[in-house]
Amino acid sequence: MVKIALVGCGGIGTNHANKLIQIPDAKIVAAVDIIPERAEKVAELANAKAFTDYRDALPLADAVWVCTPPDSHRDISVDALNANKHVFCEKPMALSLEEADAMIEAAKTNDRLLGIGYCLRFLPWAEKCKEIVESGELGDITVAWIARMSSIPPAPWLKDQAASGGMLTEQTTHNLDWLRYVLGDVAEVTGLSKTALPDVTIQDNVVAVLKFARGTIGQIMASWSSASNWLESGLVGTKGVLRTGQGGPITVYPVGGEPKTYEPERIDMYLKEDEVFIDSIVNNSPYPLDPAEAKESLALSLAILKSAQTGQTITI
Ligand SMILES: NC(=O)c1ccc[n+]([C@@H]2O[C@H](COP(=O)([O-])OP(=O)(O)OC[C@H]3O[C@@H](n4cnc5c(N)ncnc54)[C@H](O)[C@@H]3O)[C@@H](O)[C@H]2O)c1
Repeated sequence: MVKIALVGCGGIGTNHANKLIQIPDAKIVAAVDIIPERAEKVAELANAKAFTDYRDALPLADAVWVCTPPDSHRDISVDALNANKHVFCEKPMALSLEEADAMIEAAKTNDRLLGIGYCLRFLPWAEKCKEIVESGELGDITVAWIARMSSIPPAPWLKDQAASGGMLTEQTTHNLDWLRYVLGDVAEVTGLSKTALPDVTIQDNVVAVLKFARGTIGQIMASWSSASNWLESGLVGTKGVLRTGQGGPITVYPVGGEPKTYEPERIDMYLKEDEVFIDSIVNNSPYPLDPAEAKESLALSLAILKSAQTGQTITI
């Protein structure tokens, strides 16, 4: 039985609590939030003890789920790893590469698992997209694109660059991580950004062109000030085009042929990532999402933001 301290009992923390209580080898023993009522609510759900300071909960646990805003990910994760706990940390793993390195180093030094919550990677959808690319069905991939437009999600700290890191590390990171998952590393980026919303310190509109190490060129467009929601991902290849969203159906339009739609199995990605992390702890096996890989996805968002700020193309 893996005893868990769940730190951060807001939106995603409550979601993880609802998954973890379904996993036979997992037991939430501590629910932690600086807002006591939130900790108490999750404690009640999981039949656990409520805390307002994660340091008080560490002695009870074997593993810690870090579900707080990104500006606290490094400190909570490193403290937990140094206390010899395994750590599952929500994405983005941190606000900077230095913070990410400190987390990776603490995991290595203490020989503990550190997993980062890039939940889309656990969907059969992501695996199917990768399989289509690797099968050669699309030929050589020349262009990749992502469009992710919506209004800003409600958590107030998202508006604050220092707390959240901004739209690109916070949310578009899922889609950039998908691009890296299916096409491999990005070598070079050029970004442009604008701020449209009042009372925010983040860049809430970003476009960027990407050059992948394999030669594919790509584009992302992201907005948190959009009145209409739109999420599309696509790949243009010499033999066909793939169009999809984020999960759900995948349609391939072959050159000179009829479109074919794949319907990958729909699963609960949050339950799956939690089950896999618990299994990794129980079986002493590596978690499929290496934190070094999560750091590369963070590096991509940070490089786009740096390019937008400096007007320079950034080599990653
Ligand atoms: N993987 C996903 O699909 C997904 C979805 C949503 C959020 N997230 C990530 O989860 C994290 C949290 O997002 P959220 O939407 O749940 O935010 P939220 O604001 O709903 O919840 C965060 C909670 O953390 C608490 N908190 C803040 N600092 C704390 C500290 N030092 N100790 C204990 N509790 C503390 C807050 O009081 C709040 O209740 C972010 O990193 C976000 O990117 C991931």
